[in-house]
Amino acid sequence: MNKKGQKICDKVTSMPKVWWKDNPVMTHFFNSLSVLLPVGEAFFIKSVKYYEKKITKESLLEDVRLFLHQEAQHHKEHSAWNDMIKAQGHNVEAVGRSFNLFIKYGQKYLTPIQLLAFTVASEHVTAVLARIVLSNPRWLDGASKEYRRIWLWHAFEELEHKAVAFDLYQNVGGSYFLRVFSFLQTSLVFPLFIFEMMVKFSLKDKILFKLRTWRQVFDFGLLVGKDFFKIMFYIGEFLLPSFHPKNHNDEGLIHHYGPLLKKFCRPT
Ligand SMILES: [Fe+2]
Ligand SMILES: [Fe+2]
Repeated sequence: MNKKGQKICDKVTSMPKVWWKDNPVMTHFFNSLSVLLPVGEAFFIKSVKYYEKKITKESLLEDVRLFLHQEAQHHKEHSAWNDMIKAQGHNVEAVGRSFNLFIKYGQKYLTPIQLLAFTVASEHVTAVLARIVLSNPRWLDGASKEYRRIWLWHAFEELEHKAVAFDLYQNVGGSYFLRVFSFLQTSLVFPLFIFEMMVKFSLKDKILFKLRTWRQVFDFGLLVGKDFFKIMFYIGEFLLPSFHPKNHNDEGLIHHYGPLLKKFCRPT
């Protein structure tokens, strides 16, 4: 409970069209991530679950179960978030159509180890985003507290389980080349899908061709620009043959956010 006696992570059931302080571009950025997440998380769960029965190492099995639980909770929370976007009149299925097709065809034609390699690559990108958002308050500065908490909670758990898919991949004999190949594709398509979704949201809101929107796009660019080298460095670390997610120490962030978010924000 906080000072006012309210739960820190109150359930959010409705959302204003613009929940990031008077800024539809930031709102659309996070809403686009939310459209992508439940589909991505269902993909990660399936890819990891395939190998669950083959795990013989007890500690890895425990980590995998925590990973599956956390991703299932994220899936639930972001599906609820997307329902709130739908209630505003947006066609979430249409916004996420190309990404859904991409995932559907991937699941149809790729082998289990290729799917796991994509999961490992995506988990790395997600962990980098989580680290950036948790270490730089400007990303969520303008968000109302009830929406900010959901993103902080998700980012925190992404850092908590950042190494699980990677450890599983190593454990089942995944190669360096497949991991890097999947990573190059993931880091290329991920920003493209986000960009496409942001354009679709803006078109529907009839703000794409407004000067104010482009000023906000410029501000968004500045925000990305300030973290650009950090993002590139963190993302690029994945290319090293010696890379392991835990080579990068996030304990400071985990200890900072953990007591607050774990106590109040974890959904039951
Ligand atoms: Fe997640
Ligand atoms: Fe994750």
